[in-house]
Amino acid sequence: MNRTLTELAVEVLSTADGREKTARSHAAARLWRDSRAAGAPLDIGTATPPDRPARPARPELLSPRDMPRRRPGSAHGRIALIHAVAHIELNAVDLHWDAVARFAGTPLPLGYFDDWVQAADEESKHFNLLCDRLDALGSHYGALPAHAGMWRAAEDTAGDLMARLAVVPMVLEARGLDVTPGMIEIFRKAEDADTVAALEIIYAEEVHHVSYGSKWFHFLCGRHDHDPAPLFRDLVRKHFHGGLKPPFNEEKRAEAGIPPDFYWPLAEDGARRDG
Ligand SMILES: [Fe+2]
Ligand SMILES: [Fe+2]
Repeated sequence: MNRTLTELAVEVLSTADGREKTARSHAAARLWRDSRAAGAPLDIGTATPPDRPARPARPELLSPRDMPRRRPGSAHGRIALIHAVAHIELNAVDLHWDAVARFAGTPLPLGYFDDWVQAADEESKHFNLLCDRLDALGSHYGALPAHAGMWRAAEDTAGDLMARLAVVPMVLEARGLDVTPGMIEIFRKAEDADTVAALEIIYAEEVHHVSYGSKWFHFLCGRHDHDPAPLFRDLVRKHFHGGLKPPFNEEKRAEAGIPPDFYWPLAEDGARRDG
């Protein structure tokens, strides 16, 4: 008996070790793709994802204000930066599998599952690329503390698929598009070509994840006859606690299907609060 797609998702979410989690994630993505190519897609199923994904004993998780400051000018600071991004990628693997399993009860075209399985597969590659860089630089994932609270966005949007799409791909992953070019520059200056190459792969593929968010957000807006931009802003104000800050990568955001009227008014909220 074939496992269902949501059972595969729950297996990934329930695996603690990062390399093992990403190996299962790659294998699950392959099973899904092969079944789709054969014209006999796995059943989606109804397996329930855990409230929180399993995580390894290391890294130690600290609240952001307790994190040691990073100095990207130093070799140690650059390792800390790669470590921080690896932590984000591991969380992203879980976020995408959670999006597969948690909202499986909502009637959605199979393309929804294709997209998030693909995104999870790519995040798994991103985590491993960065772990390989940490290993090559004499460190490893788990050697440094990492941000606690990464799962908050998932918890805050567990009951609302449109809020999940607004906050996770369209705010958090879009933020990745804003900051990645600066990171690539840091490693280019340090003449670390292998880390530059890894970050360039990540940068190119993250545009697609943001675009999947925009695609399915707009799809659901169409289904429920909502005006997308004001609904997006309402959902972000209600479910996201971080605030949006420029500079924005307007070119890549546009490429991913997020127009300026989605995010500039939210940044102006923040400017009003701070000012
Ligand atoms: Fe990624
Ligand atoms: Fe992503």
